[in-house]
Amino acid sequence: MDHYISINDIDNINSWIEEAKELKKNPLKYIELGRNKTLGLLFFNSSLRTRLSTQKAALNLGMNPIVMNVSGDAWGIEFGDGTVMNGNTAEHIKEAAAVVSQYCDIIAVRAFPTLNDKAKDESEQVLMSFKKYASVPIVNMESATGHPLQGLTDAITISEHAKTRKPKVVLSWAPHIKALPHAVANSFTQAMQKMDVEFVITNPECYNLNPEITGKTSIIHNQEEAFKNADFVYVKNWSSYESYGQILNTDPNWMITKEKLGNAKFMHCLPVRRNVIVEDAVLDSDSSIVIQQANNRTFAAQLVLKKILENA
Ligand code: CP
Repeated sequence: MDHYISINDIDNINSWIEEAKELKKNPLKYIELGRNKTLGLLFFNSSLRTRLSTQKAALNLGMNPIVMNVSGDAWGIEFGDGTVMNGNTAEHIKEAAAVVSQYCDIIAVRAFPTLNDKAKDESEQVLMSFKKYASVPIVNMESATGHPLQGLTDAITISEHAKTRKPKVVLSWAPHIKALPHAVANSFTQAMQKMDVEFVITNPECYNLNPEITGKTSIIHNQEEAFKNADFVYVKNWSSYESYGQILNTDPNWMITKEKLGNAKFMHCLPVRRNVIVEDAVLDSDSSIVIQQANNRTFAAQLVLKKILENA
């Protein structure tokens, strides 16, 4: 594998899941694979899990991770072609990506969407510019439209906790006070479409995700109906896609409660706002597998890095 940009870079999700489970059993088995190799982690946005678990994954493979908060600490990067750089940007992506490529064997990038310029966000300007101008493999640590390390993590977690051969998995929208990206929901949807699960999405009418991603997946606007017989309820807020980036609904009735969840397992990528997205009684119960889910971030990242290193 050259790059890990989206869930579509996974050729066979079942074999990836099995390989990740093997890594989890013996995380240091490939400690020599990344010896003397450097992973550069570039963050244009905040992170706890991605930042730490991807470093942990690199260390488990013997790599040296180096981290930079680009937005806070680096020169402002210009992405436009032919721009007269007499504004706030001081360095062009052409030089920045080429220079970082000399220091790193793999570059991982986190860059969130604007949520006000749909065309720009869908072009994945930051991630794709690194891919274009870097001379080393690129890993997506959450971009404008996708979070494939999280999607792979979620697939591994569902496989580990499934009690039936074909579990029912529900992706539910929940309210939030801020306009949030679609990336996690998009990648989760794409991951579930590759798995042998009964997958449905539930969200208010004005919150359908990009139809090019949801495709033939069933979208139910009645949350209670969607939750019937669910084995896993994966909860996430996202802003409107159609009225791009807007908050059109904050109805607290969409919050996840213990009563609504029934016997299903609760999943969320974290961070999660308690008693806005989900009530305490869910997160503080055995129904929640968010901590186990977050643990799998390391092994998803480790698998991706391993596959790239093996291809080098
Ligand atoms: N789930 C996730 O990506 O967490 P962070 O934003 O903390 O990295």
